Amino acid sequence: MPTRLVFLGPPGSGKGTQAERLQRDHGFIQLSSGNVLRAEIKLRSEVGEQAAAFVNAGELVPDDVITRVMLAAVDKLGAKAALVLDGFPRTLPQAAALGDGLRERDMTLSAVVDFEIRDEKIVARISGRRVCADCGSTYNLEFLPPKQDGVCDSCGGTRLEQRKDDHPTVVQHRLNEYHAQTEPLIKYYREQGLLQPLDASAPADEVEQEILSLLAKLDSA
Ligand code: AP5
Repeated sequence: MPTRLVFLGPPGSGKGTQAERLQRDHGFIQLSSGNVLRAEIKLRSEVGEQAAAFVNAGELVPDDVITRVMLAAVDKLGAKAALVLDGFPRTLPQAAALGDGLRERDMTLSAVVDFEIRDEKIVARISGRRVCADCGSTYNLEFLPPKQDGVCDSCGGTRLEQRKDDHPTVVQHRLNEYHAQTEPLIKYYREQGLLQPLDASAPADEVEQEILSLLAKLDSA
């Protein structure tokens, strides 16, 4: 049975950074709801047109829209893929729809990793975030800079950009949305015996080691 993880946590907690590492080095496929939506917005697809105003304002996209898109992405990858669902689900209705959708496909979740970090640290991380416009790799000017200033380590691209929704007022709104709508999932998944708390405030290499220990534990269970 392939490992299927959900990465749950506030904006800027490092979900994307760790999901990218699992994809790059450990055979996982990262399914980031934010990346999927940003790609649709860039394409100006129907989903992109529906989602753009929500994403840019730091609001959650309607549950039915994101659930449809994410389950379609799971279907494209097939039953054998080891997956990280990064940023989905993030409301109770999304979690219920994901549970139903996986059951219909005879799939299960292995664990839900809860990235724990205080709001103050998040603001500092997000203000320094830069994303490669060509391949989507994530950096931080202070904490995780590229090896060569302004050049992407992964693809050599030179457009390391700030996300539109990383403006401080939008970040505050995204944090409020997280506390109101996503935090209840912690209890939901704890009650299902799937929750794995993670200290996300540690340096990225330490967080990665903690995730690899968890994977080893899941493998031997
Ligand atoms: P999305 O793209 O998912 O944004 P998010 O959840 O707000 O998460 P972020 O991407 O901001 O942060 P992250 O946890 O991935 O952190 P990162 O690794 O980049 O969603 C964007 C929008 O799309 C939402 O606001 C909403 O509108 C919509 N959306 C998405 N999913 C949805 C859903 N399910 N339902 C409805 N709407 C949805 O790290 C942050 C920074 O810190 C980086 O600079 C990184 O280099 C640095 N960093 C990472 N780890 C460390 C570390 N350990 N130490 C120091 N720095 C670190």
